[in-house]
Amino acid sequence: MPDTPDSPDTPDPTALRPRRIVVGVAGSIAAYKAPFVIRALRDAGHEVKVVPTEAALRFIGAPALAAVSGAPVSSGVFDDPAAVEHVATGEWAELVVVAPASADLLARVAAGRADDLLTATILTTTAPVLLAPAMHPQMWLNPATQENVATLRRRGLTVLSPDSGRLTGQDSGVGRLPDPDRIVTEALAVLESADAEGLPTGLEGRRVVVSAGGTREPIDPVRFLGNRSSGRQGCAIARAVAARGARVSLVSAHVEPGLLTQLPQAIEVVPVNTALELNDVVRHLCTDADAVFMAAAVADYRPAAVATTKIKKHSLDNGDDGLDDETGIVPAPVISLVENPDILAGLVSDPPRSDGGRTVVVGFAAETGDEDGDVLSHGVAKAWRKGADLLAVNAVGPALGFGDVPNAVVVLDAQGREVARASGSKDEVARALADLVAERLKSA
Ligand code: C5P
Repeated sequence: MPDTPDSPDTPDPTALRPRRIVVGVAGSIAAYKAPFVIRALRDAGHEVKVVPTEAALRFIGAPALAAVSGAPVSSGVFDDPAAVEHVATGEWAELVVVAPASADLLARVAAGRADDLLTATILTTTAPVLLAPAMHPQMWLNPATQENVATLRRRGLTVLSPDSGRLTGQDSGVGRLPDPDRIVTEALAVLESADAEGLPTGLEGRRVVVSAGGTREPIDPVRFLGNRSSGRQGCAIARAVAARGARVSLVSAHVEPGLLTQLPQAIEVVPVNTALELNDVVRHLCTDADAVFMAAAVADYRPAAVATTKIKKHSLDNGDDGLDDETGIVPAPVISLVENPDILAGLVSDPPRSDGGRTVVVGFAAETGDEDGDVLSHGVAKAWRKGADLLAVNAVGPALGFGDVPNAVVVLDAQGREVARASGSKDEVARALADLVAERLKSA
């Protein structure tokens, strides 16, 4: 097997080395979850310094934070003036994670304030900053907070979207601290993309198109045929190729909104709904593309006709009880389907590139395996059928492949031969695929 970015004897240049991470804790009841974030970061091998605000210390004690981080905590700029902590902590940090970030903390950071050690650290650091908000829905949805979040994201800080669910009181809504595991995954992804930015790239000046998400095929004005693709893998690919210097267009078919807000601004995002739209947009963008990643889950079929008004369950208005004379039951409506174009196969058989160049085409095959064969044998058959330069085959199922979960792919060439394997977070898989394409373009 050729060396792959994750094979044991080839050190992955992008593998995460231990880092110095500041974990800020702001004044929210969710401060009690900060130790889970701190512990997971330390378990991943990183050094953590905790900087709580004064308000945070009303919810969780400094001794608890010191014990779980294994280091003293300080919160005020005057705690140790000789150490010039308000600058030193920011310079020490290779990443700042604030969990929870209260509405007040977001406002102070957006305003550029430095009235405690945490805000001073965020103001002085050149490290990436990730904020995990937690607050009551009315505070989160208030235009003041929303504008602060937009400002922070525009400036390049990562602001996670809070979760929805039960709140401290009897009510529920959007504003819960994202799950600590998700905070850590996102924090490590921020570090990974910061790492990739410093690497020799291989994709500088290249034009890359990535499709992500899942198409929706309308049935009537309120219903559609869709699928479970979150768009996470496609967004990770867009980030990985952008970090290697490519000019990227992301064709976004109903990607989870939180994922789009985490993308670097240089990535052009073109939203689409249906497979036909996706086909038109991808083919148009590929007229000058060096590579295309078809990570979107495209519906193979669409309703032959889209009803212009909502289809009713059955109508009794005209005195017709809707019963079938023979069976005595109400027959379910039948939706006739017609086939969508196979966009990936079309990019190979009828390349849209119009400037004489060649586009490296990468497809994906999410398989479950069945009585006709396992995941890989279906992948090999698909590689022959589609003819893509590279086909990333992965197993999917209830807890595999979709959403915020690790991924493992076997990459095949157009003849179904194994070229590489990659596994880990979706960012790690994305980086491995980006490297494979960079290699192909170099040798082309
Ligand atoms: O056949 P299957 O849907 O498993 O193929 C998956 C690959 O083909 C993905 O890369 C997907 O983006 C692409 N595809 C396509 N057009 C379709 C169906 C799938 O481009 N109509």
